Amino acid sequence: ERLVVAIDGPSGSGKSSTARGVADRLGLAFLDTGAMYRAATWLAVHEGLDLSDTDAVAELVRDAVFDIALDPARPTIAVNGHDVTQAIRRPEVSAAVSAVATNLDVRKDLVARQQQLIADAPAGVVAEGRDITTVVAPDAQVRVLLVADPAARVARRQAELGSAVDAAAVTDQVIRRDADDSTVARFHDAAPGVTVVDSTHLDLTQVIEAICALAPG
Ligand code: CDP
Repeated sequence: ERLVVAIDGPSGSGKSSTARGVADRLGLAFLDTGAMYRAATWLAVHEGLDLSDTDAVAELVRDAVFDIALDPARPTIAVNGHDVTQAIRRPEVSAAVSAVATNLDVRKDLVARQQQLIADAPAGVVAEGRDITTVVAPDAQVRVLLVADPAARVARRQAELGSAVDAAAVTDQVIRRDADDSTVARFHDAAPGVTVVDSTHLDLTQVIEAICALAPG
């Protein structure tokens, strides 16, 4: 019996670590869809495209070859032969990703690729992003919206990035990207059938356990 777990949430809600932990616990593949938007962004910047040229960006992404490892212990992503696992976390990519993620032709293309990856995972998959519960895998057996107070999300993102980065810059990045992304998904209301998990006062293990408890069997 294949199992699909869909997890959506905003920046700093802890969804990547949570989804990896759930995949590890349940023996499932792990799909970070944000990494695909980031890799598409990396490629467009690498090719020197003007990100506001939506047709050129969509064409570049349509012709791109993505190579994604779904092992929760070691997720990697390559695009057109470049391993960009590290590079997609750079601030230049974070700053540019909303411009690519709001390109509707890019979204259509990446959503189709994500649906194929989910269908091909033998035991099933934990997929995380912004539109997994609603668009990519609305029929998943487990659908979760992971939320946390903005202050908790900023603190987590800062812990990830290390003390070298400026607190105000991190706050701006987390809060502004929420606003930039709000055309894609609003996190105030979960879609029907989606369980809201608030991680503000939970540690990672507690969040992983709460989600695993929703899985059948
Ligand atoms: O860094 P953060 O956790 O906020 O984001 P991410 O999961 O790495 O995703 C990076 C960006 O990709 C988000 O800010 C969204 O603009 C976009 N994204 C999306 O539009 N749809 C998804 N399913 C996943 C990510």
